[in-house]
Amino acid sequence: MRAVVISQYGVPPVVTDVPRPEPADGAVVLKVEATGLCRSDWHGWMGHDPDIVLPHVPGHELAGTIAAVGAGVSGWQVGDRVTTPFICACGSCEQCSEGNQQVCPRQEQPGFTYWGSFAEYVAVPYASVNLVRLPDDLSFDTAAGLGCRFATSFRAIRQVGRVAAGERVVIFGCGGVGLSAVMIAAALGARVIAVDTNPAALKLAREYGAADTLQASPDTVQEIRDLTGGGAHVTMDALGSNDIVQQSLLALRPRGRHLQVGLLPSGVQLDVGRLIGQELEWLGSHGMPAHAYPEMLHLVAQGNLNPSVLITRTIPLDETPAALAALSHGTPAGLTIIHPPA
Ligand SMILES: NC(=O)c1ccc[n+]([C@@H]2O[C@H](COP(=O)([O-])OP(=O)(O)OC[C@H]3O[C@@H](n4cnc5c(N)ncnc54)[C@H](O)[C@@H]3O)[C@@H](O)[C@H]2O)c1
Ligand SMILES: [Zn+2]
Ligand SMILES: [Zn+2]
Repeated sequence: MRAVVISQYGVPPVVTDVPRPEPADGAVVLKVEATGLCRSDWHGWMGHDPDIVLPHVPGHELAGTIAAVGAGVSGWQVGDRVTTPFICACGSCEQCSEGNQQVCPRQEQPGFTYWGSFAEYVAVPYASVNLVRLPDDLSFDTAAGLGCRFATSFRAIRQVGRVAAGERVVIFGCGGVGLSAVMIAAALGARVIAVDTNPAALKLAREYGAADTLQASPDTVQEIRDLTGGGAHVTMDALGSNDIVQQSLLALRPRGRHLQVGLLPSGVQLDVGRLIGQELEWLGSHGMPAHAYPEMLHLVAQGNLNPSVLITRTIPLDETPAALAALSHGTPAGLTIIHPPA
C-alpha cells in the first residue's frame, strides 16, 4: 500500500510502498477514506514524541471502512463506516473500567505508538472499545476531523473545563483545536474571545461563533481584561506556547480555569504563587474516549455543531509531505483533510 514514511526527524517524509497491516486479535484494519493533518503530526515528525520509532507512518485523525476483522472482534463487519479516537484504549484496566479511556496506561495511538493513517490502510487495536460507527449522513471528511481535534476540544471545553453559558472564554490559537473550541464553547452559550496572529484564522473564528477576536500583540492581556471586565473565566492554550501560557494566567479572573491542550515539548515555568493566591486551576486535557462520542454526534446531527465547515482544504496523499513540512512556517486557516488513493 502507499504510505507517508518518515525515516529521519525533520527531513520531509516520502510517499512509498509499505506492507499493508494485518488485523491482530481484537483489532480491525480500516481502508482509510479520509485523514486529518494535525499539529501533533508535526510534533511527531520533529522528534518531540518519545513513543515514535523510525521508520514511521504518521496520521491519527481518521475515518474509513472496515477492510478486515481480527479474531475475537464481534459486532463489526467488513464495509462498516467508522472512526476512532486517536487514543485507542485497552478497555480492561482500572482507568478504562472507570470510563477514563483517554488516560489508559496501555493505550495505543495510530501515528505515534504504531503506524498511522497517512496510508491506504491502518489498524485499530482493541476494536470493540474504540470503534465509533458513523451516522450515514456524516461524511468521511467530517468524521476524520472529529477523531482528534474536534473531539479533544469537545472534552476540554465541556467535561474538563466545565464551560457554562454566559462565561467569558478565551481561545489562544485558532487552528484545528482552537476553531473547534470556539464553535463548541459558543454553542454552549459562552461569550468567546479568539486570539491568533493570523487574520484569516480570526475571520473563521468570528464565523464560527467568537464574539470578539484579537490579533495577538503585547497588549492582548490588557485587551482581554478590558473586554471581560476583569478577566476571563476560562482560557485555553490551543497552540502550545510558553508565551500563551503566561498570557492566559494573567488574563484569568480569580478562580479561573486554564485548559492546556497545546503540547509544550520544552516545558513551561508556572507562577505557582499566582495559581495559589488567585485559586486558579491548571487543567490538562487529552483526547476523548469513544463512549463520549454519541453526545457530540447528537449535537452534530441536530445542527448545533457543524464541524464540516472547519474543513478548508483537501489534498491527496502525495501532497502530504509538503503540507507537513509547511507547518514549520505557519498554519493555513482551517482543517486540512488528506485523501489516500481510492
Ligand atoms: N491534548 C490533546 O489531546 C491534543 C490533541 C490535538 C492536538 N493537540 C495539540 O494542540 C496544539 C494545536 O494543534 P492544531 O492542529 O490545532 O494546531 P494548528 O497549527 O492548526 O493551529 C495553531 C494556531 O495558532 C496560531 N498561532 C501561532 N502563533 C500564535 C500566537 N503567538 N498567539 C496566538 N495564536 C498563534 C496559528 O496561526 C494557528 O492558527 C498542538 O500543540 C497539538 O499538538 C493536543
Ligand atoms: Zn485501559
Ligand atoms: Zn491530533
